[in-house]
This record gives sequence, C-alpha cells and structure tokens, in this order.
Amino acid sequence: MKAMLPTGDISRAVEFGEAEEPEPREDEAVITVEAYSVNRGETFRLEDPLRRWLPGKDVAGTVLRPAADGSGPARGTRVVGHPPARGWAQRAAVPTRDLAVLPDRVDTTTAAALPLAGLTALRLLRAAGPIAGRRILLTGASGGVGHYFTELASGIGARITAVSAGEERGRRLLDLGATEVVPDVEKAEGPFDLVLESVGGTSLPAALARLAPEGLLIWFGQASRAPVTLNFFDFFKAGVGGSIRHFDYTRSAPSHGSDRGSSADLGNRGNRIGCGYGDDLAVLVRLVATGRLHPEIGIRHDWSRTAEAITDLRARRIRGNAVLITS
Ligand SMILES: NC(=O)c1ccc[n+]([C@@H]2O[C@H](COP(=O)([O-])OP(=O)(O)OC[C@H]3O[C@@H](n4cnc5c(N)ncnc54)[C@H](OP(=O)(O)O)[C@@H]3O)[C@@H](O)[C@H]2O)c1
Repeated sequence: MKAMLPTGDISRAVEFGEAEEPEPREDEAVITVEAYSVNRGETFRLEDPLRRWLPGKDVAGTVLRPAADGSGPARGTRVVGHPPARGWAQRAAVPTRDLAVLPDRVDTTTAAALPLAGLTALRLLRAAGPIAGRRILLTGASGGVGHYFTELASGIGARITAVSAGEERGRRLLDLGATEVVPDVEKAEGPFDLVLESVGGTSLPAALARLAPEGLLIWFGQASRAPVTLNFFDFFKAGVGGSIRHFDYTRSAPSHGSDRGSSADLGNRGNRIGCGYGDDLAVLVRLVATGRLHPEIGIRHDWSRTAEAITDLRARRIRGNAVLITS
C-alpha cells in the first residue's frame, strides 16, 4: 500500500513509498484512512527517524476489517482513532480501545484534527483542576492544542490570556473565547492562577514570573526546542509557593479512570495509565457534533503535500491543525 515514508531529511521529511499492509493484533481494527493530521511532536521524531518506524498518530476513516476479538465497531463504520504509529498510509491498524465512532454530523476531515491535540487539551483541562473564573496564561496558543484548550476552558468561565506571535494565527482564539491575545509573554499582565507553558527557552521563566502566589504552572511542551534556565528568585516575583508540574497526555487521567488493560498489556502504546484513548475521543466527537467544539484547521491538503505541511508547521505558519486528505 501507499504510505508516507520518512526520508531522514527534515527539509523534505516524508515522501510517498510502498509500506507493508498492517498486520493487526487481535484487538486492532484495520481502518481505511481518509484523513490524518500532523503534529509537532511527530515532526521532531522525523528529524532522526528510527528504522522501520512510520509516522502517523491521528487518523479518521472507515473500518475495513473489524478486530478479530470482536471488540470495536463493525465494518463500514466511520471512526476517528489514535494509533501509536503508521497512520499516514492508505490503511492503518488501530487498537479498538483507541477508536471513537463518528456520527453523520462530524465529517472525516474535521475528525482527523481531533486526536493528539484534542486529547492533550482535554487532559490538560483535567490536570488543571477547577478553573471557572480563574486567570490562565497559555503560551504557544496558536496550535491545535491551544485552540481546543481555549474553547473548552473559556466555555466554563476561565479568563485566558493567549500568547501568539502571529496576529493572524492568534485571531481565532478571540472568537473561541480568549480574553486577550498578546504577541509575547512579556506583554501578558499577571498574576495568573494557572500557566500552561509549551514553548520553553525564555518563555517559561517569563511565564513563571507572572504566576500568582500558590499558582500552578503546567509544563507541557518545548516548541522552541530551547532548554529552560530557571531562577529560584523568579518565584518571588509573583508566584511564591507556586508549583511546576510536568505533563504528558499519555500518562494523564482518562475520562472514567477504569482500567481496560494493564500497563504490561499496553507495552509501548503510549497510554501507560492502562486505558485507551477512545473514551476521551468520544467526548471530543460529541462536543464537535453538538456545536460546542470547533476544530481550527489551518490547512486541508491532499496528502501528497504532507512534507510541505510539516515544513509550514515547524515554521509557525499554520493556525490550529494541519489535515491531509488521502481520498
Ligand atoms: N506534553 C504532552 O503530552 C503534549 C502533547 C501534545 C503536544 N504537546 C506540545 O504542546 C505544544 C503545542 O502543541 P501543538 O500541536 O498545538 O503545536 P503547534 O501547532 O506546533 O503550535 C505550537 C505553537 O508554539 C508557538 N511557538 C512559540 N515560539 C516558538 C518557537 N520558537 N518555535 C516554534 N513554535 C513556537 C507557535 O505559535 P506562534 O508562532 O503563534 O507564537 C506555534 O504555533 C507543542 O510544544 C507540542 O510539542 C505536548
């Protein structure tokens, strides 16, 4: 089958090639992939790709072959899924616990923008605790995660100051409920009860200096790739007694907290807490279907343009998600 294969040259990160057909485990359905999205973290891995690894964690399409163990949706069902890899292809194997069924109202292209960014935003919301009326500083806000988080959090009364260097990329955040969009953390006036930091470099210390006393800074990314230097005394600028918490969506609590498999069963499947992504994906799908979540899709291109989308994403030229369409 046709798939996007890593080239090892990040300036043209992937190209069409032939890949082996998926060999599903008992609990995996084979999906005909109709659309997928590209995420920043995947582009990092493409800089030095592992042998035999194929990218692709966000897919939407139709079930071609249901799981052999009888779990999951029937053939012909439209679904969105979050496989561990190999999704930028004509067909992909997806664990049924990582699938959600799509209603007619949610088209496949829109659904493909949901998994990684939407799951991260939803789980960040859960990690943040009660936020109604609270003041939040959100850096790196113009990507997929930032748009989802802004709409979800402002919908329950949070007051969000979003940071985006691009005026055009920041505009939609205001429609989705951000109180203000500033071009630089230095322009944000605190103090903030909660800081969500995903840029790294000088952004994190500047954001930390705006934390309210006893506030929480959740550190969930480093888009700039620049390590952070922290100064103990920054806490005294505002956030005395504040905390910094590292966040990884794969280890963050899912919807219901039930255990649908042990960590050992899941192996390196990216959700070591022991539960699939399907329940949270279903939450996101329902929010979209009922008009309460509006995926911001900056580009929708034919999948032949995947390498170009990766370049644009890395160069901060895309607002929200980048979706590639295979059919
Ligand atoms: N911890 C987790 O579990 C988890 C899960 C998913 C994603 N993430 C991370 O969360 C962040 C947001 O994800 P996303 O998919 O929404 O990313 P994205 O679409 O790539 O957006 C990241 C944004 O960061 C901003 N940015 C500021 N300084 C930058 C710099 N020096 N280089 C590159 N970007 C810079 C850019 O916005 P402006 O140009 O508008 O300022 C960019 O749009 C990323 O860092 C990602 O790796 C973490």
